[in-house]
Amino acid sequence: MCGIAGYVGPKNAVDVVFDQLKRLEYRGYDSAGIAYLDGGSIQVTKKAGKLSELGKVLHDSPKHAELAIAHSRWATHGGPTDENAHPHYDRFERIAIIHNGIIENYLELKQDLVAHSHKFSSQTDTEVAAHVIGREYTDGVPLEEAVRKAVKKLRGAYALVVMSLSEPGKIVCVRNSSPLVLGIGIGENMLASDIPALLPYTREVVIMEENQIAILTKERIRLIDGDGKELAIEPTHIDWDIDAAERGGYEHFMRKEIHEQPQVMRQVTTGRIDEKGKIRLEGIFGDHVWNEIDRVNIIACGTAYHAGLMGKHLFESALRLPTDVYFSSEFRYGDPVLSPKSLAIFVSQSGETLDSLAALRLCKQRRIRTLGIVNVVGSAISRECDRTIFTQAGPEISVASTKAYTAQVMVFALLALYIAQVQEVPGVRIDEWISEIGRMDELMAECLKLEPQIEKLAEEYKDMPLCFFLGRGADAFVAMEGALKLKEIAYIPTQEYPAGEMKHGPLALVTENVVSIFGATDPNIRDKVVSNIKEVQARGGRIIAITTSEDELMDQVAEHVIKIPKTKFEFLNALLAIIPLQLFAYHVAKLNGCDIDQPRNLAKSVTVE
Ligand code: F6R
Repeated sequence: MCGIAGYVGPKNAVDVVFDQLKRLEYRGYDSAGIAYLDGGSIQVTKKAGKLSELGKVLHDSPKHAELAIAHSRWATHGGPTDENAHPHYDRFERIAIIHNGIIENYLELKQDLVAHSHKFSSQTDTEVAAHVIGREYTDGVPLEEAVRKAVKKLRGAYALVVMSLSEPGKIVCVRNSSPLVLGIGIGENMLASDIPALLPYTREVVIMEENQIAILTKERIRLIDGDGKELAIEPTHIDWDIDAAERGGYEHFMRKEIHEQPQVMRQVTTGRIDEKGKIRLEGIFGDHVWNEIDRVNIIACGTAYHAGLMGKHLFESALRLPTDVYFSSEFRYGDPVLSPKSLAIFVSQSGETLDSLAALRLCKQRRIRTLGIVNVVGSAISRECDRTIFTQAGPEISVASTKAYTAQVMVFALLALYIAQVQEVPGVRIDEWISEIGRMDELMAECLKLEPQIEKLAEEYKDMPLCFFLGRGADAFVAMEGALKLKEIAYIPTQEYPAGEMKHGPLALVTENVVSIFGATDPNIRDKVVSNIKEVQARGGRIIAITTSEDELMDQVAEHVIKIPKTKFEFLNALLAIIPLQLFAYHVAKLNGCDIDQPRNLAKSVTVE
């Protein structure tokens, strides 16, 4: 997500942290800022837009300092403006902080601070955190102690970095679910949110663990835990080259992003499930609107359209709420019939897809309520929708969408539960859903462990002339997304169908080398899928079945069986099945020497109709 940099030592700290931010640019951001000590005050310079904008201001009058912290922000709370950019000061401008992640309880904390006459210049949760730390930073209290006390009041996922006017040679940082790496130099020390920022300066790093607090001076680094107990420093030597480091050591962004999905599951729900087990989706329509809506139209393209199909499946099965899903490019010219009480939901990773934007404008002309499910804050779709829920998946760089898809589907799950909560829909066990959603990070991590098995399958089938992706119910929708991945990055022709449709025509394409991947994660319709598998087998087709861990039947039926963990909900089981499908596409493409992150003829953001 956002980038963090910090340096203390003899070099010009302003130049060092600026360079470090540049090395994190590939992660995407929409504003940047820097804080350094200048005589008797902390100077903060920050600008919306690209780093070059910040660079212009900094280089117009060169600055020199021995300590600086810097940040590139990817907006979450509050739009991408100069004011919302980091660093932020505390009340008395004695400290400056930068922050990655989300402080879930910032509104409560802000209310309390406002009641004590604190004033805020931004809409960010970060500025609230700065004031909370500032409040603990009373005379005689070391900065690390103030930070240690303050973070006990913060809920959420964050990495925070703090500098102070009264302790000019010290940087304090704390990690809670958002990555922070410390770099050990000779007579200098530094930190960053990601290893690539540090590599030109040092290869000895300390990867901070949960709830650790680090204190950096130019002479040394100390680590303490949440109780203030001193911890041993265990450096790791990094020998990746700089390019590989940008991809976190992975060969491709796509594989990195596939592997980020457990973390994304945590990010999507951050701040959205409260301690009482209620779903909170801030800033969306009031209850009366949800009670009035009679129909939902989901409008999107490509992968986002496939996420929309999952949304439809859940809205209809759990809420009995009639839902249609449209390709944006068809919606606009299809003269759609729209009920005045309907809701149009626009799903988009980039938030800039022109087909979707045009469809959104049509809905607005027709005075239909619009809701965005968007990854990029500040993007056109997020600005133009009446309301937007951000997917919080972090920047997605690979052209083929992976983590944005799982995040979009999870937002649909949260939204469906939210509507169920408002409408008190009978039979929807919100508590059970929340507990299963809370396990999705671990379960996705389990699915990722299947990679060696999937790599072998990719090896065996990399030359297949055609691959079918089949399933029933939610599995059929996930099959469509699996198929899109294989065709777009490995250039292998695919056919995707609900499994029961095979006998109505597509079966004619099955020959000996044709592979069929069946999703069979729903125990209620598994026997029907087995019949469909047999139809393909009888024509000599090769079968890979994805099923859940407890299923023994499939071992007797399919040539290859991939077992994923089971949840209480078929919807979530089906979603987990996308991980082996993404990995399969990735490994087939890799073995075939394809340009995985930038497949031929495709672009990440499609801003033409
Ligand atoms: C496929 C893919 C595309 C996008 C589609 C919509 O991997 O990335 O199909 O999903 O172009 O893009 P967004 O979500 O940015 O509107």
